[in-house]
Amino acid sequence: MRITVYTLFPHLIEAWRSEALVGRAVARGLLHLEARDLRRFAGNRTGRVDDAPYGGGAGMVIRVDVAAAAIAEARADDPEPDEVALLSPAGAPLTQAVVEELATRRHLVLLCGRYEGFDARAEALVDREVSIGDFVLMGGELAALCVVEATARLLPGVLGDADSHRQDSFTTGLLDYPEYTRPLEHEGAGVPDVLRSGHHAEVAKWRRREALRRTLERRPDLLERAPLDDDDRRWLEELSAGRDVDL
Ligand SMILES: C[S@@+](CC[C@H](N)C(=O)[O-])C[C@H]1O[C@@H](n2cnc3c(N)ncnc32)[C@H](O)[C@@H]1O
Repeated sequence: MRITVYTLFPHLIEAWRSEALVGRAVARGLLHLEARDLRRFAGNRTGRVDDAPYGGGAGMVIRVDVAAAAIAEARADDPEPDEVALLSPAGAPLTQAVVEELATRRHLVLLCGRYEGFDARAEALVDREVSIGDFVLMGGELAALCVVEATARLLPGVLGDADSHRQDSFTTGLLDYPEYTRPLEHEGAGVPDVLRSGHHAEVAKWRRREALRRTLERRPDLLERAPLDDDDRRWLEELSAGRDVDL
């Protein structure tokens, strides 16, 4: 997969390219991550890409011609981008379902704003706008890196264990079940016996139920869309009725 990020701060993206699992994916040729400087499209010697907002008010706005020139350059790439996305607090929320869709792209282009963001006319030039949450960052770079991290880990070969993302929060429609490792005891807190029983079916049952419990307690909204079977529904009814059942 190829991801091209247009930004006023290419070094922020480049720093991500050489470390941890993204760095390994890049080194192994599974991900091509490139940062391009938006200032190249400034059309002036100072590299200034912003201007004052029409109508007045605080802050500066990134010019639409700058966005248009960057997008035109990206669309001439080989392979041509199958998606151009703008990072914006006004975009659609970045969910795991969106990430799964983006991870199927051959070439994804991400545009990072700064200041008050892009001139609104840039919105018509992109395929989608993506928000990473209901808060405002100072720039789109961290949001773009969230997209990079979340999509890269779904690419074949990027994670050591190809199955490890299948049980992740949201992928199953639920939050993930709780995990434990050594030490067996920490300041009086132990590990559920079933996890040491060696009984795979019982472990799987416990994990499913704990995932349901966590989701009910922390994100009940997810249960409205999660694929549930009859056992799941019975367990949720028991939990909701306060009749917690030990396995
Ligand atoms: C200071 S913000 C602009 C905020 C804008 N005036 C607003 O209130 O919607 C500058 C840039 O940061 C990025 N950004 C900030 N918060 C974001 C979020 N939650 N998701 C995605 N990008 C974000 C966008 O690229 C945005 O153009």
